[in-house]
Amino acid sequence: MDVNVMVGDFKSAAVDALVIGVFEGEEYTRSGIVRVADEALNGAIRRLVELGDFEGKHKQTAVLYTNDAVAAPRLAVVGLGKSDQFDAEKAREAAGEIACSLRDLGVKTIGIPTPSDAPPEMIQAATEGSLLALYQFNQHKTEGLYDVKELDAITYIVSDQGGSPALEEAVVLGDTLARGTMLARDLSNQPGNKLTPTMLAEKAQQVAEVSGLDCEIFDLAELKEKGFGTLLAVAQGSEEEPRFIALEYVPEGGDIDTVVLVGKGITFDTGGISLKPGKGMEEMKHDMSGAAAVLGAMQVIGDIKPDLHVVGLIAATENMPSGTAIKPGDVVTSYSGKTVEIINTDAEGRLVLADALGYAARYEPRAVIDLATLTGAVIVALGNLTAGMMGTDQELMDRLRAAGEKTHERVWQLPLWDDYDEQIKSDTADAKNVGDGTAGTIAGAVFLKKFAEGYPWVHLDIAGTAWDMKGSSYVPKTASGYGVRLLVQVVQDW
Ligand code: BES
Ligand code: MN
Ligand code: ZN
Repeated sequence: MDVNVMVGDFKSAAVDALVIGVFEGEEYTRSGIVRVADEALNGAIRRLVELGDFEGKHKQTAVLYTNDAVAAPRLAVVGLGKSDQFDAEKAREAAGEIACSLRDLGVKTIGIPTPSDAPPEMIQAATEGSLLALYQFNQHKTEGLYDVKELDAITYIVSDQGGSPALEEAVVLGDTLARGTMLARDLSNQPGNKLTPTMLAEKAQQVAEVSGLDCEIFDLAELKEKGFGTLLAVAQGSEEEPRFIALEYVPEGGDIDTVVLVGKGITFDTGGISLKPGKGMEEMKHDMSGAAAVLGAMQVIGDIKPDLHVVGLIAATENMPSGTAIKPGDVVTSYSGKTVEIINTDAEGRLVLADALGYAARYEPRAVIDLATLTGAVIVALGNLTAGMMGTDQELMDRLRAAGEKTHERVWQLPLWDDYDEQIKSDTADAKNVGDGTAGTIAGAVFLKKFAEGYPWVHLDIAGTAWDMKGSSYVPKTASGYGVRLLVQVVQDW
C-alpha cells in the first residue's frame, strides 16, 4: 500500500475512485474542489445533497458513478462534519471510513483532489487514519485469503506545483507514523508461541538495522552477570530465555537531551504460580504491548531523525508457572540493589520494569517514560479510552497530556502522593510487589517509583488501551498500537 502526492488535474486521474471531503451544512459548492467536481459531474453532488441522501455529517459516505464525466469511474464523498469542529482526529476518522468502504467495494487506487494550501497536519492525519483503518492481521490464516481485499495506492492530487513539497512531507510523516503503529500492532497481535523474547529481540535488531539505530541485546548469561535480578526472577519459571533490548538513536551534533522510553515485554503472562483464571487468558499474548509501542516509536524516530538522543529499553520474558518459578514470599534483588518481596507472581510487569528503570539511570536522562499493560485496575478506573498516567515530574506529564490531545492517544493523570507509599512497604524486604488491593493502578506506579530514581519519570498504564481500545474508528478491536504516535509526538515537541 503506497501513499503519494501527484501534481495534475484530478479530472484526468486514472484512479478507481476519487474522494472528496465535504463539510456539513455549508454551501457545499463553495469550496473550489467540490464545485469543480460537481460541475464536471453535471450537478450530481448538488443533487445528492438536495435529495437529502448526504449531509456531510462526520464519517457519512456516498459513492457516485461518473459515467465518463471524469477519468475515474467513481467519485466518493465523505462527510467531515461541521467545519468549526473539524480537527486532526476528525480527519483520521473520515479518511479511515472512506478508505475502508472503497476497499470493500474492490477499489484498488484512490485519488484525493487536494487544495495546495491544505493544512499539512490534516493531510498527515488523513494519511494516518486511512492506513491505520485499512490494517488487517491475517498472518496465521491459510483459508479465505482470496476474499481479502486490499487497496494498492492513495494519491493526493494537487493542481499546482507550489503546494506539493509541504504536502509530500506531511504524507511521508503520516505514512511513517502509521507504519510504526502497525509494527506495534503486528507484534502485539502475535501469539506467545510466535513471538518469544528471543524473537522479539531479533525483530528489534532488524528494525535497528533498517532504521539506523544502535541495538544491544543482553542474553541470559549477560543478565546474570549484570545483576538484572527482578527480570531474571520472572524469567526463571520459563523454558524460554529472557532478553533485555536497548535501542539507541544518536543524532548528529552533541550536547542534547536524552529521553529514555521503557516497555514492558511480557510475551505471555500466565500469572506464574499465582496463576490467572483460564477464561480470557489468551489475551495475555498482548502483554508486551508496551515493548511493541517502544519498538514502533524507535522505528519512526530512526526514520524522522529528530534533534534528541532517544533510547528505547525493553525487558522481555514470559511469565510461567513451573518447578523453577518464583513463589509468593520469595525475595529477589533488583538491578539497583533494592530487594523485593514477591507477594503475587502475577504482578510481574513491575518486576521486569524495576530492572529496566534502574538501568535507565546510566543514560542520565532528562526524561524516562515507561509504557506497560500493568494492571487490570486501570480498565476499571478509566475504561478503554485513555491510559492512566502517574509520575514524578508535572512538566513531563503536561508534555504527555498535550501530545495525547494532538494524537488522540490520550492520557489521564492519577495521583501519586507519597501517602500511597505505605502500599508497598514490606516486613521482609525493601518493597513488596503488590499493595493492599485498593487503587491497584496507583500501587503499581508506587512500586515503580522506587526504582525510577534520579530522573524525571512518568509511567503510562496502557492495559486498557493496548487492545480492545474504544473510540476511534481507525483502531481495530485487537492490538491498537497505542503509544507509538504519542511517544513520537513527545519527541517531536521536545
Ligand atoms: N498483565 C497484567 C495486567 C492486565 C490485566 C492487563 C488485564 C490487561 C488486562 C498484569 O501483569 C497483572 O496480572 N496485574 C495484576 C496485578 C495484581 C496481581 C496486583 C492485576 O491487574 O490483576
Ligand atoms: Mn501479570
Ligand atoms: Zn502482565
